Amino acid sequence: MCPLNNYSKTGQIGSATSNLAKTSNFQFSQLTKIGFKLIINFVLDYLSIIHKYIDPNSKAYKYYIVHSTLVAHKSLKIARNMGLTQAQLEFIEEASMLHDIGIPQTDMPSIGCYGDEPYLLHMTIGKEMLLKEGLPKHAEVAEKHTTITKSQIINENLPFKPPIDMYPKFLEGEIIAFSDMSFTKNPPELWIEKTPDQIIKECELKYGPDSVNLYKMWLNKFRKFN
Ligand SMILES: [Fe+2]
Repeated sequence: MCPLNNYSKTGQIGSATSNLAKTSNFQFSQLTKIGFKLIINFVLDYLSIIHKYIDPNSKAYKYYIVHSTLVAHKSLKIARNMGLTQAQLEFIEEASMLHDIGIPQTDMPSIGCYGDEPYLLHMTIGKEMLLKEGLPKHAEVAEKHTTITKSQIINENLPFKPPIDMYPKFLEGEIIAFSDMSFTKNPPELWIEKTPDQIIKECELKYGPDSVNLYKMWLNKFRKFN
């Protein structure tokens, strides 16, 4: 099940689809030519993974699923317009939906997270969860989807041990991190996409010049595909 994988040119999310639905572009005669032999590709059932770690009846789930879907939508639009492959699109959908999976173990009551860990550590916790699920590349996105640098972790004594750069260093991860910066999980602004100026101001206040420079680099790279 890959519910968002109806990839349109504009990045619009289709209704729940399956790989069978992808055959809808074929004419009936084409189907008969292949003797009705349908080839089913296995794609990641990320909703089952989300439901395993975040109760669908919980407060956290309501914020999680909206935020993740918005991030996936924006990421897929950029990726599609960049002409990335089907495999890259599927990875981007899956990793976007799973990137914040570590939040339930953190302390952020405003979005229904009642764990003990500092919120920032949702990235490290999410990485461990997805490694256990056998998803190392998705785990890398969960671990590194911010603009936080190793030197900032050291200078500000942030709780990542050992300190490493917490930003992605491959294209799909960059697209997801860039899209993630446009959306918050905070209830009043959950559905509202931030402008680049708002994001730059936020980076300046929260994270400093390295963060601003990284965001501006991604903005230059992805703006024309958005
Ligand atoms: Fe996020």
